[in-house]
Amino acid sequence: METTPFFIFLFIHLSSLILGFGSVLVTDLYGLLWVRDRVRFTQVVSVSGITEYFIWAGWIGMVAAGIPLAILKGEIDNLMIIKLFFVVLIGINGVLLHFLHKKVGRYQKGEHVPDLFMFRLMLSLGVSQLSWWSALLIGFLHRHVSTVINWPDMPWLASGLILGILLVIWGIGEIFLRKTV
Ligand code: HEM
Repeated sequence: METTPFFIFLFIHLSSLILGFGSVLVTDLYGLLWVRDRVRFTQVVSVSGITEYFIWAGWIGMVAAGIPLAILKGEIDNLMIIKLFFVVLIGINGVLLHFLHKKVGRYQKGEHVPDLFMFRLMLSLGVSQLSWWSALLIGFLHRHVSTVINWPDMPWLASGLILGILLVIWGIGEIFLRKTV
């Protein structure tokens, strides 16, 4: 496992992590500054329009280097299945965020942004943070604690449960906020 090709792919993996996750943090920081009234909404929109490309480039790089890493390692344990679930979730959520971002750009300055839209945006940003931090933590555990971690016993069920909880939160928000529109 600890061969030269492994370390080369690990280097690409980590460089992509810096690019992708770094850009996620920059975007969310701008969002936070906007919530605290420190930057204008248009600034958030234009910054996230640029960082979006870096996030996708980082994510694609992580997957492209992660596949040969996993092949060289020769083992997909239970915790890795959970990590892959989060990687897929980042991808799907990223597509949804892309459309939300496009819609954000259409709001005029001073125009009221509906609560339902804000809820979708916040949920999507929350899912992004949850998934990136989880994949990061699992990658770290595999590399520095134990290369094989066969926990939890039923990774597919655990992934389904996480997805279910997120969908329920989404559904509840949609039902309640649609009523108030
Ligand atoms: C957003 C996506 C991902 C994140 C944030 C992530 C994060 C990480 C991190 C932090 C490490 C430890 C690096 C080190 O400390 O040297 C790592 C290692 C690793 N990653 Fe990823 N990764 C992602 C996607 C993937 C994918 C898609 C695969 C495989 C298909 C993968 C396979 C691996 C492998 C095999 C290792 C070596 C450690 C081990 O599992 O034994 N990663 N990753």
